Parts: sequence; C-alpha cells; structure tokens
Amino acid sequence: MVKKVGVAILGLGVVGGGTYQTLIDHHDFYLKTQQVDLTVEMVLDKSTERLDALGISAEARAKSIEEVIANPNVDIVVETIGGVGAARAFVTAALREGKTVVTSNKELICKHSHELEEIARRTGCGLYYEASCVGGVPIIRTLLDGVQANHIQKMMGIVNGTTNYILTKMANEGADYAETLKEAQRLGYAEFDPTNDVEGFDSTYKLSILSSMAFHTKVPHTHIFREGITKVDGKDIAFGKELGYTLKLLAIGKNTEKGIEVRVHPTFIKSSHPLASVNDSFNAVYMTGDAVDDVMLYGRGAGALPTASAVVSDIIYAATHSDIKYSTFKNKATAEKNTKFITDFESAYYLRLSVADEVGVLAKMTSIFAKCNVSVVEIAQKGRASETSRVPLIIITHATRENSIKKAIAKINETNYAKVEAFIRVEE
Ligand code: HSE
Repeated sequence: MVKKVGVAILGLGVVGGGTYQTLIDHHDFYLKTQQVDLTVEMVLDKSTERLDALGISAEARAKSIEEVIANPNVDIVVETIGGVGAARAFVTAALREGKTVVTSNKELICKHSHELEEIARRTGCGLYYEASCVGGVPIIRTLLDGVQANHIQKMMGIVNGTTNYILTKMANEGADYAETLKEAQRLGYAEFDPTNDVEGFDSTYKLSILSSMAFHTKVPHTHIFREGITKVDGKDIAFGKELGYTLKLLAIGKNTEKGIEVRVHPTFIKSSHPLASVNDSFNAVYMTGDAVDDVMLYGRGAGALPTASAVVSDIIYAATHSDIKYSTFKNKATAEKNTKFITDFESAYYLRLSVADEVGVLAKMTSIFAKCNVSVVEIAQKGRASETSRVPLIIITHATRENSIKKAIAKINETNYAKVEAFIRVEE
C-alpha cells in the first residue's frame, strides 16, 4: 500500500536545493520502489530568488517556522540551514510539535544531539542525520545497521573535502599552501573564510558524531585534539613522498582498553594504504571492527546531489518505518564523565631538521633521542650544505609518546647545530 508523506524543507541552499530537486525528479521512482508518495508541502527560505529558481509555488512558500509546523500535511521537516542559530530553534520547535526531523547539520548534531534527541523521544518522533557526516557516503547507516555486530576499535577518516583537495594539489603539483588555497577558493571548493575547514573544526564535528556512534559513548568535540593544515609546507609533502608516505588530514578515533583517543591533524600514511589514494575533494572512512576486520567507505563528502542522496535516504527511512530508529546516543549527555580519554597519545613521527653538515652531529642527535626514549627508524639527509647554510635531515621515529617527542624537539632546538623545522605525525 502506498503511504503519502509530506515534507517541508527549511533552507534552500546547496543541500536544501539538491534535496528539493531529488524529491521532485525521483518522485515516481520512490513511489514504485519504496511505495511512498513523497511530496514537498512547504519550503522556508528568505530568498525569493532561490524560491523562484526552483519554481516553488506560492502556496508552498512558508513565511515562518510556525506556519510549517502547524501544517498537518507536513510529516517530516528537513533542516538544511546549517549553524546552531535559527537551525537549532527551528529543529527544536518541529520536534516539540511531534514532527520527525531530518538534518544535514553536523554542528547542530555534534553540539546539541542529546537535547534534541530527548525532545524527539518525548514527543515520539524521529531525528535523522545521515547527511551530517561525509555527505553522500552512508557512514551513519553503516555504523547503525551494517557493522553494529562489532566492537569498532579504530576509525580513520578523510572527512573534509576542502582540505583533501588542497593537500592533493600540493602533492601533485608541488604548489604551496597559500597559492593552492586561493585556487580552491576561486573554484568554489574552499569558502571565502576557510577557517572551519582548514583549521580542522569541520573534521572534529564529524569525528565527534562518528566516534560517539562507533564507540557507544559521547565523544564531545572539545575532547578532540585538533591541528589544521595551514602550516603544512610543500617540502614535507615531497620529502614524505620520497620515503613512501602520503600526507592527509585524518580524523582518527581509537577505542582501546586504556581509553578513547580522538584527534584531527595532518598525518603521513604509507602511500600503499587505501586512504592514500583518496584524492581531490573525495572523502573516505576506514574502520576496523573486531569481527569484520577492515572496512572502507568512499565517496563524495559534499555537493548538492551527493548530500541530498543522504538526506533523502533518511526521509525514505523515516517514511517507510513505523518504529523510530534513533541514530544513536542511547547514553546520556553526561556519559563522557565515565569515559577515559587519552591525551598523551602514541604516534610515530616525521621530523624535518636543519642541521650543520659536520662530523658527529648525527651521533649527538641520536643520543638526544635515546635520552628522551624516542626510537629512530630512518634518517635521511637531503643534499649537502653549502658553507653557510644547513642541510635538511629527515627523521622517522617508531611509535612514541607525544610528550617524549616534544621533549626531544625542545632539547634539539636548544643546541647550536640543529633545529626542528617541521613535525608531522605518522600513522602506522
Ligand atoms: N566543508 C565541508 C568539506 C563540506 O569541505 O568537506 C561539508 O561538510
């Protein structure tokens, strides 16, 4: 039997517009394959230009959120506004009224999922957010319904397309960060104010949501170690490449006996690792479960139609299931109080030093590493110094504590024969 379900879309930007278009274009397909008659009953957007461009009828143009939630034909409210201002108020109002909400808003879910889910449970409606993480890649449904038989031990994700585009271009063309960012902005990959992406905030929101789901406890984004790509030097990408490494901005989550470790930072991975071949604005999540072993999902993390694919998948799920399946967060907002987070994590490291090209310098440095309990795997000198300048020296260490490597770096920088110019974590 065909079920008639009414949808309202709040915000007709890139994702909202793509969602509207997908619902219209695929209406008959969903009728046939899902037995659901999905109609867009209302849209709410201040821009007449956007409403006109999509050909929204006068009756479907809502003037306020109150008008949307008072409409008895609206069963599902889609929030594609973004941010935590109006979006939070509108989603709260819709849930209070008992309307199921589908949102693409990672910041909202990352920061307020518990309060929103509590309202949803109270009023008996659903809250779905597949599109909040990694765009069109069905990572949330996979965590909920695909790999739920496992203890997920580790996740590594390239969850931000802007930074992956920039790093890929720097690697392929030897371009520097500033000029690549400008090019990315010109092409519309990076925003005018790119801080959220390039400083890693966007990745921490996504890692907070994904690791909370994977590890079954609240992982607040404020607990995530974060370092962006703004200080990445093209020289290091090139030296890393020569040694068989590729640089990616990785979102890493580990669930160990000692606690949960979560971090976002530029990371060298072996060029043979599947994540190393995720290029341009593509995203991927690689995870390891105790039963399934390794699983990798790959696809487009942004864009109108890829993100709409995730939004509409949630709409169809909500429309075709009578039981409400909350995405996660069965635990309380305060659950993190009982969770141990590891801050002094272990990693291998890549260091680029400038050193005096003199007899005995290497021996002195290896003695500093030994004193700080850092074990060196590889040392490569890049060229010979001229009489006045110093020579670049690349060092790769074994896994060691972050505190130990920082001590070693401080000691090296106190000497008059060597200085650490760059320091990048390596994931083994
Ligand atoms: N700004 C994000 C990115 C897209 O560059 O991946 C949406 O999450």
